[in-house]
Amino acid sequence: MTDQIHDAPESECPGCELGRRAFLRDAAVAFVALAATGSSAAALPVRAIAALSTRGRVVSYPIPAVDGVSIDKANDAIVSRTAGKVFVMALTCPHQNTALKWLDGDKRFQCPKHTSKYTPEGVFIEGRATRSMDRFAVTKTGNAVVADLDKLYEEDHDVAQWKTAFITL
Ligand code: FES
Repeated sequence: MTDQIHDAPESECPGCELGRRAFLRDAAVAFVALAATGSSAAALPVRAIAALSTRGRVVSYPIPAVDGVSIDKANDAIVSRTAGKVFVMALTCPHQNTALKWLDGDKRFQCPKHTSKYTPEGVFIEGRATRSMDRFAVTKTGNAVVADLDKLYEEDHDVAQWKTAFITL
């Protein structure tokens, strides 16, 4: 498994790491703003969320009441509920780690750098990326979806885990 977001030791390039985090934070704000201006936000809204609880690198989120996309800027994570399933995915594109956008009108994610496209489940549609969006390991506990941020599955390396990295409602 490769953790694309948190694998760079700060001692190697502290300025780069801080710069990248600032970029992701800013991009996440842009992500929300862009999605909020969509024409049918009520159908599949986007909102900013914070973890309900954090224990080390294990975080929990309330299970979304309706289909929609939420982002946790602090943890560079996306929570997506669609068609009776909830996924927690990396905010960044698997191609070159650019923060993804949600295009509400098209009901899909898109990378602003090379325009790779992904479904609400994070499944690759087309573009320069060579795999779908990376998914965190998740479990359901009561009314929460619990994600282990140290277990990030890549579709091409962790096939079985990636395919089952969601909870059903
Ligand atoms: S960085 Fe997303 S497609 Fe290249």
